[in-house]
Amino acid sequence: MVKPKVFATHSLFDAARKILHDNCDVEYWTQPERPPREEVLKRIKDKEGLICLLTEKVNEELLQAAPKLRIAANVAVGFDNIDVAACTKRGVLATNTPGVLDETTADFAWTLLMAVARRLGEGDALARSGNWKGWDLDQLVGTDVWGKTLGLAGFGRIGRAVARRANGFRMRVIYTDAVRAPAEVENELRAEFMEMTALLAEADFISVHVPLLPETRGLFDASKFSRMKATAFLINTSRGPVVDENALVAALESNKIAGAALDVYEKEPIIHPGLKRPNVVLAPHIASASLETRTKMACMAAENVIALFEGRRPENALNPEVLKV
Ligand SMILES: NC(=O)c1ccc[n+]([C@@H]2O[C@H](COP(=O)([O-])OP(=O)(O)OC[C@H]3O[C@@H](n4cnc5c(N)ncnc54)[C@H](O)[C@@H]3O)[C@@H](O)[C@H]2O)c1
Repeated sequence: MVKPKVFATHSLFDAARKILHDNCDVEYWTQPERPPREEVLKRIKDKEGLICLLTEKVNEELLQAAPKLRIAANVAVGFDNIDVAACTKRGVLATNTPGVLDETTADFAWTLLMAVARRLGEGDALARSGNWKGWDLDQLVGTDVWGKTLGLAGFGRIGRAVARRANGFRMRVIYTDAVRAPAEVENELRAEFMEMTALLAEADFISVHVPLLPETRGLFDASKFSRMKATAFLINTSRGPVVDENALVAALESNKIAGAALDVYEKEPIIHPGLKRPNVVLAPHIASASLETRTKMACMAAENVIALFEGRRPENALNPEVLKV
């Protein structure tokens, strides 16, 4: 039997390769750098499947270059790199990896929140510098996390997982979302729904967990920062373009807000030079990066591909209308 041809833009992990091995003829991109666009377009030509990362754009150009393509399986929950409508038009199924990364990503949002509140980046730099003269009463004093108010912008899978962590820190949890959560979820997580304007005025920490959509691009702009408390911090582990970086830098420079902790950026891997300040904690888009979780994500993408080629319904279809099963 001829196996369907698949291009994986990463060597993935052993566990995912095992899933694919028996059923697909997979060409892996094994270089340490991400593949240049021309390589992706060249290698996809005769493939029926694509396993890609969020660094690859699955758009009209790619779809045109891949006339045999039946599935684009993203190894990420966010799928702003995929033009789902264009996929649907060509009958290509798009899939993502929801659920398996919630706790790991929430752990990291919490790590950033704690790090910026307690000035861990500055403390680490001082401890390594050779200039630390010893304990002092007002040295690197930060701000408490416990007992404060956490504002969640986006109360989906990851936003709710962050709320659970806040409960353990005896915080008040407020949230805003396009859709209000069911009462039992609000009760369980002791989370209070409010409109964005009220949340901006009340939160001591705002953690962003909305997907990147046309409506959320630039959601955190100058007007939002001007409504935040001067003592408040912004934490972003969603997607860079949800925050207007020029406006964020201006807000930090004019002390409109107290600081920020970021995992994602508008033009990755470029980081706005104005963000390289002591009161900003910077991470290189690693919120879901635990070995366990990244392995699960790769396996989930592999399972989606296998399911389609075996005539089953992949679990994480973004455009299930293209499926005949
Ligand atoms: N930094 C990372 O490595 C990393 C890891 C995982 C996920 N993410 C990002 O986090 C995002 C959220 O993931 P999730 O699994 O929690 O998604 P989800 O779909 O479960 O939750 C998203 C929430 O945002 C809400 N929302 C959508 N549009 C909105 C709007 N215009 N205004 C207010 N609320 C809106 C939705 O109603 C939903 O409740 C992903 O889309 C992805 O971009 C980043």
